Amino acid sequence: MSTHPFPEYSTFNSIRICVVMVGLPARGKSFISQKIKRYLSWLSVPTASFNQSAYREKRAMDLLPEGSDVFTLHDEQAAKVRQLAENDCIEAILKWYTLHDAGVTIYDGANTSRQIRKRLYDILAEHDVQTVFLESFCDDEAKIQANVMDINRTSPEYAEKSTEYTVADLKKKTRFYNSMYEPMDVEHDGQYTFIKLLNLSSQILINRIDSYLQSRIVFYVMNLHVKPRYIWLSRHGESQYNLEGKIGGDADLSERGWKYARKLKHMVDQYIPDQQNLQVWTSTLKRTQQTASFLQFPKKTWKALDELDAGSCDGLTYDEIAQRFPKDFKARDDNKFGYRYPGGESYRDVITRLEPIIMELENQENVLVITHQAVLRCIYAYFMNVQQKDSPWMSIPLHTLIKLDIRAYNTIVTRIKADIPAVSTYKEKGTSKLGETSDESKNLAGSIISSSTGQVV
Ligand code: G3H
Repeated sequence: MSTHPFPEYSTFNSIRICVVMVGLPARGKSFISQKIKRYLSWLSVPTASFNQSAYREKRAMDLLPEGSDVFTLHDEQAAKVRQLAENDCIEAILKWYTLHDAGVTIYDGANTSRQIRKRLYDILAEHDVQTVFLESFCDDEAKIQANVMDINRTSPEYAEKSTEYTVADLKKKTRFYNSMYEPMDVEHDGQYTFIKLLNLSSQILINRIDSYLQSRIVFYVMNLHVKPRYIWLSRHGESQYNLEGKIGGDADLSERGWKYARKLKHMVDQYIPDQQNLQVWTSTLKRTQQTASFLQFPKKTWKALDELDAGSCDGLTYDEIAQRFPKDFKARDDNKFGYRYPGGESYRDVITRLEPIIMELENQENVLVITHQAVLRCIYAYFMNVQQKDSPWMSIPLHTLIKLDIRAYNTIVTRIKADIPAVSTYKEKGTSKLGETSDESKNLAGSIISSSTGQVV
C-alpha cells in the first residue's frame, strides 16, 4: 500500500468574498456572522469575521474623553471615531487578503446607509473582493426582544453587563443607526449581490447570487434559527468489533452494547424532557440501529451518518495496520484530518458528506443522533468550533449520552455516562495501542453526569 498525497482540496479555492452585514442592532448580525464563519471554516474555507464595534471601542478609548458617547450625531470627534473604526475594519479585511489568497471575510457592522455600503463595495472591488451584502431586517418586536435577551445572556460584547445596561445601550445604538437606515431593495440596490432576511428568515429576498459559494451561504442562512434547543449525540453501544479492537465493518452489538441500548431508553426518558417532537437518527449500520431499537420515536436512517470508511484497512486492528502498512499508519498520525485511507475516506471527506446533516440539524429542534466515533467528532467539531487539526483526536467515549445546549452565541455540553463498562476505542498519536492515558476532559469539554437510574436487565 502506498501513501497518498493529501491535497488541501477545496471546491471553493480562488474565491474572495466579503459578506458585509447590514441592519440595526439586535437583529442577529453577530450571531449570523459567527455561524457563517464556523460553518465555512468547518468546510475548509478560510474564513474570518471582523467586528466593527471592537475597532470603534478601541478608537473611542484612545480619542474620546471618558464617559463621552460615540453615538452622538452632531459631535465631530465622535463622527471621526466612527469613521476611523470603519477604516480600521476594512483595512483589517484587506490585510487578511494579503495573507490568504482566497476565502471569505465577514464585515460585522450596521452599515445602514447606502453611502457607507457603496464606499465599502468600491474599496472591496478595487481589491478583487466580491461583496455580498447580508441584511437582517426585523420589525417583529417579540423577536427583537428575544434577541436582546440572548445578547445580554451570551454575547461576549455584553459579558458581565446588567440587563438594564444592555437594553439601554442597544436602544441608544438603534436610535442612532435608524436615523440613517436605508433598507436594501431591488429598486435602489439592484446592481449589488445581496441577501435580505426578513424577520430572521421568515422570508428571504435574494438578488444577483452568481457563484456556488454564494449560494451555499444563502442556503445556510435560510436554515438558521435562534430558538433554544438541544441536540443529543451518542455513539452506538459497544460492538463485537470494538471488543476485538477492529475498525470498520458492520458488526452486531456486544452483550454490554445491548445493555447500553436498553439503558439508553431510560436515559432518554430521564434526561430528555421534551419528547414530543424528538426524532432519532441513525446510520445504515447495524450497531447504530440496534442501539436505537428500544426507542419509540420517529427514526431516520442516513447513509451520510455511516462511519468513516477505512478502505483497505476495514476489519483490521490498529496493530495490524501498523505492521502491514507502516507508512500509512505514520502518515495518518501526521495528518489525521487530511489522510484518506486507500479506497476509503478522510475526515475531510466525512465532513463533505455531513453537510446535509448539519443543515438539517440547524433546522430541527430536538434530535438524538446515534452514530459513530469519527462522524460524531465531525458533528461535534461543527457545534463546538473545534479546529480541524484537533477534531480527529477528540475523545468521544462509548456508552455516553452527550447533550448540546445550542444557544444563540455559544453551545454548552453535558456528558451523561451510562455506567456500563465498555472498551476504549481511542488511539493516541504514535501508538497502535488503544486507551487514553491523558485526561480525556482535555479533549472533550463539558460537565459530566453519571447516570445510574433506570432498571437495566
Ligand atoms: O475507523 C473508525 C474509527 O471510529 C475512527 O477512529 O479516526 O480515531 O482511527 P480513528
